[in-house]
Amino acid sequence: MNICFIMYPWDKVEPTKDSTLRIIHECLKRKHRVVTASPAGLTMRNSVTNVFGSVLSVNGPFPATAQSLYKKVKMKEKMLPLAGFDVIFMRANPPLDIMMLNFLDSVKDDVFILNDIQGLREANNKLYTASLDDPSHEYIPATHVSKNKEYLKRVIKESTQDRMILKPLDGMGGRGVIVIEKDAVMNITSLLDFYISSNDGQSNYVILQEYIEGAEHGDVRVLMLNGEPIGAMKRVPASDDHRSNVSAGGTVKRHSLSKQEKDMCKVIGRRLVADGLYFVGLDIINGKLIEVNVCSPGGIVNINRLNKTRLQSKIVDFIENVVKYRSVAAQRRSEYREKVQNA
Ligand SMILES: Nc1ncnc2c1ncn2[C@@H]1O[C@H](COP(=O)(O)OP(=O)(O)O)[C@@H](O)[C@H]1O
Ligand SMILES: [Mg+2]
Repeated sequence: MNICFIMYPWDKVEPTKDSTLRIIHECLKRKHRVVTASPAGLTMRNSVTNVFGSVLSVNGPFPATAQSLYKKVKMKEKMLPLAGFDVIFMRANPPLDIMMLNFLDSVKDDVFILNDIQGLREANNKLYTASLDDPSHEYIPATHVSKNKEYLKRVIKESTQDRMILKPLDGMGGRGVIVIEKDAVMNITSLLDFYISSNDGQSNYVILQEYIEGAEHGDVRVLMLNGEPIGAMKRVPASDDHRSNVSAGGTVKRHSLSKQEKDMCKVIGRRLVADGLYFVGLDIINGKLIEVNVCSPGGIVNINRLNKTRLQSKIVDFIENVVKYRSVAAQRRSEYREKVQNA
């Protein structure tokens, strides 16, 4: 197979921690052709979408670990037509680059792209999770998103909880996620001003969300492949923070999914597959889904270590199967077409 990883810059890869590097290592081990590129490398040449990328190769014995691959790998710069790939694996960090998706639209019928472009467009922000159908808030927390300060203040005032979560709609890595206490009324207007208005005259959406009890003990990251959980871990906040993100100082622990979490994964999983979201990370607190991470979810290295798994091998099995199925279907179609043509 020919696989193109559209990802963050190679020199930003941290070899001991990086999930993408594990998947690349597995692909090269199985002798697939791997090219890495950044979204900025997408180029149209004579109306054909190409990419400036690096073709990866290794001289001598194949490195046993992803770290040693990172040290030994050779890279050859090439401009290549995107439709020549079997798979495009999107591993660029959020925020999602919409222009990148516009380039990829031109090859979406030729190449298996994960995650699906339309799915990425819909699910790349927290509105997707907030609007998943769950009127009784059994697994989606009550969530309000607005730029209207008076409305947001009213929500806080009318809330039956004495604290709520305030966060930017397009945040990541826990940035800007704060707990607001209902009785801190004196600060709320100023906070909303700060979050909503920005210097360039634009304004930002903010989320007000029910505070999920138990969040101080951590959240659960679940990696979902083709609608099913393949691995999970618990992330526990640092003693001086309420956020569980590893990038905000959280630490990880082993976790087995509860019955309730498994049931939720089943329900969410069906929707994810329908939207072409084949490889995503769910963030769950106390049985409630707070986020579906669709751009380059991480966690493979930690989950592998905690559970003694090799998730990258399941992921590459999955893409191999999809590509095989697509090529068998294409071959069958052309044989049958020929039969009808010659009738
Ligand atoms: N509704 C909530 N109740 C309690 N804690 C929350 C809530 N939403 C977020 N948090 C805490 O903040 C962290 C980051 O929130 P999240 O919505 O996943 O944003 P980000 O995209 O920045 O990771 C979570 O992992 C959790 O620890
Ligand atoms: Mg998160």
